[in-house]
Amino acid sequence: MDTSKWALDIAEKIHQKELSVVERNNNRIPYTTDQGKFDDWSEDGKICWWTNGFWAGMLWQLYHAFGDTSFMTCAKNIESKLDKNLMNYMGMDHDSGFKWLLTAGASYELTKSDASKNRFMLAAGNLAGRFNLNANLIRAWNDSGNGDTSGWAIIDCMMNLPLLYKASELTCDPRFTQIAMAHADRAMEVFIREDGSSHHIITFDPNTGAILKPLGGQGMDEGSSWTRGQSWALYGFSLSYRHTKKESYLTTAIKVADYILSQIPVSNRIPVDYKQPKDCSWEDDTAAAITASGLLLLSEELLSTDASRSKKYKDTAIGLLQTLATESCNWDNSVDHFLENCSAAYHDEKHNFAIIYGDYYFIEAILRLCNKEIFLW
Ligand code: GLY
Repeated sequence: MDTSKWALDIAEKIHQKELSVVERNNNRIPYTTDQGKFDDWSEDGKICWWTNGFWAGMLWQLYHAFGDTSFMTCAKNIESKLDKNLMNYMGMDHDSGFKWLLTAGASYELTKSDASKNRFMLAAGNLAGRFNLNANLIRAWNDSGNGDTSGWAIIDCMMNLPLLYKASELTCDPRFTQIAMAHADRAMEVFIREDGSSHHIITFDPNTGAILKPLGGQGMDEGSSWTRGQSWALYGFSLSYRHTKKESYLTTAIKVADYILSQIPVSNRIPVDYKQPKDCSWEDDTAAAITASGLLLLSEELLSTDASRSKKYKDTAIGLLQTLATESCNWDNSVDHFLENCSAAYHDEKHNFAIIYGDYYFIEAILRLCNKEIFLW
C-alpha cells in the first residue's frame, strides 16, 4: 500500500468527521466522551486540567491542513478560556507546554496575535520558575492531594520543554533554553534506565537536590514500564534534540526508541504497561499514538545520518497508526472521539475508553506522515 496516499485518505476522513464534531462542540473543552459525546472541562474547578490544550491543538492542526475557519474560531475561544488557568498560580504546573504550545503557541504561529504571544511568554516564565537549582530538575505538580511534592519531577515534563526553547527563540533570551537543557541533561541521568526504559517519577530533596527514589507513578509498579511514560521519553528527548542538536539527546532518544521497539507486541496493540501480566487486556492507544508521532519525528532527524534506523522507526510508526485506524478508531461522524482504547493510569478503575490527547497525537502523526502538519512543539 502507498502509505502517503493511505495517510492522505485518513486525514480527509478525520477532516470530514471533525467538521461535524466542532459544529456541535464549539464551546467545550473535552477530556473524554460519555456515550460518544464530549464532556466539558471549561468550568472553574476543571479549567487547570493538564489536557485542556489538546482539543484546541487538534483544531489548529486541522485549520492549518484544511483551512476551515470553524476550527480556528473554536481554538481561539479555548485559548481565552485558559486565561483563568494562567491567572491561577496553584493551577500552573509542569504541564504548561501541553496547554500553551497547543493554544497560544499555535495561534501565534498562524495569526501572529500579540495576545497569544503574551500568554505564551507568561506560561513559559512560570515553567522556568519551577526549576530547582540544586536538583537541576523542573518541579512537577503542586501540592494537590499527594502531600508535599516540592521534590518531584516526572518524565512527562520532557514534552513541555519546547515551551522554553521557543520562548528563547521569541525573545532572543537564552535563559529559557538554559533551563530546558539543564533539566534535559539531568533527566537523562536520573530517569533513563540501563535497558533504555524510563522511570515515571523521581523524588529528590528540594533543598539539597539529592536524588531520593523513583516511584512507579501511573505505571504498574516501580521498576515496571508505563507505556505512555516510555513514549513521553522517546518523543521528549527527540524534541530536545530537534531544538538544540545536542548529540546526547539523540543518543538517548534512540536508546528509548530501541527499548520500545523491543517491547511492542506483534499485534501492535499497546498495553498500559509493557510489564503488565500477559492476560491483562488493558490497553493504551494514547501510548501507541504518541510513540508513532515521536518515532516519525526521530525518523526525520535520522534521515541523512542513519537511513536504515530512520526507515525502521518510520515503518514501526506506520504499523502502529494503521492498527489504530483499523482496530481502534470510531469513524462514526455522530461520535465525538476517535480512539476507543485509552487508559490514564494502570491502577485506575477505568480502562479502554476515549481520551482527548490520544486523538491529538493520532491526528498529529497522520498529518506528519502526509506532510500536512504544523509543528507545534
Ligand atoms: N502527563 C500525564 C499523563 O501522561 O498522564
